Amino acid sequence: MAVLVTGGAGYIGSHTCIELLNAGEDIVVIDNFYNSKPRAIELIKEITGRDFAFYENDCCDESALDRIFAENFITEVIHFAGYKAVGESCLKPVMYYENNLQSTISLLKVMQKYGCKKLVFSSSATVYGIPAKVPVTEKMKLSAINPYGSTKLIIENMCRELYASDKEWSIALLRYFNPIGAHESGKIGEDPNGIPNNLMPLILRAASGKMATLSVFGNDYPTPDGTCVRDYIHVVDLALGHVAAIKSVRKETGCPAYNLGTGKGYSVLEIINAFEKVNGVKIPYVIAARRPGDAAECYSNPDLAKKKLGWTAERGIEQMCRDSWNYIKNNA
Ligand code: UD1
Repeated sequence: MAVLVTGGAGYIGSHTCIELLNAGEDIVVIDNFYNSKPRAIELIKEITGRDFAFYENDCCDESALDRIFAENFITEVIHFAGYKAVGESCLKPVMYYENNLQSTISLLKVMQKYGCKKLVFSSSATVYGIPAKVPVTEKMKLSAINPYGSTKLIIENMCRELYASDKEWSIALLRYFNPIGAHESGKIGEDPNGIPNNLMPLILRAASGKMATLSVFGNDYPTPDGTCVRDYIHVVDLALGHVAAIKSVRKETGCPAYNLGTGKGYSVLEIINAFEKVNGVKIPYVIAARRPGDAAECYSNPDLAKKKLGWTAERGIEQMCRDSWNYIKNNA
């Protein structure tokens, strides 16, 4: 019996594999290394001292998925595989719809065929669009403001409709806030192929001199220091949220959504200051124009995940900044 992890070599996927293995779960991993590296698979094995089956395949490939289910007794699936860059999704919407939807459709078809009806889906706080108020609860209105967000929302809806059609399904939709940080070993972290878009990978580039200055997108928002506020969460806490979600889909059927965040908001300048203080390095930055589509504030109310999954994020902002930098220093 094993948990299939799609996209298990990626940033959140690899940390989740480690925590699943540490919790004594058996796993099978599929990844096509579109936005990850084969080394991640070796490192997961090295860090945990555990072995597992790995398939280098595209999750859109239904026959490859079929073979994985035929060769292994898959009892649950965590579905991470997908494209995730908002800006790129606006330039290549069809590619995003094709990949993110096709991989999920192939997966759900094969799960149905093999009678595997327990799924944890990697959703995103992006499904709240520009939130009308903060903290954001799971009951708030959903909307998509870019193609990436649309794919997450469509998949959430597909899962809800699937459960409505067949009450044997047990699906947890995990809405991530802003994952940063890295494994404490310093061996695994965020390692995007190409130029990053998210704040922490860009701070790391500025800190290591790979980028001259970081642009802070706007300081005229209605927030305490004028810069945008987000709910940054340590990737290991996020990974542990998946271990809790797997236990919950085993216990009861349904299709609930859970916010995985800390419930605390930090501004861009607070993150820069915390990073500089904890790591003793300077982040050269300039104040730039607002980035279109950015909400002034977005942070979670994580009470439902605490109540239903028994999970809370425990790692603070200092540890997130320390572990992010530690990973970069170890892998320069
Ligand atoms: C972004 C996506 C969101 C996605 C999430 C996780 C957008 C509009 N939103 O969220 O849909 O779910 O990533 O992948 O892209 N910032 C700077 N300078 C930079 C980069 C970022 O000031 O060079 C600021 C942003 O304005 C924002 C904060 O840092 O306030 C965090 O940005 P980012 O890491 O891109 O995450 P989100 O915008 O929250």
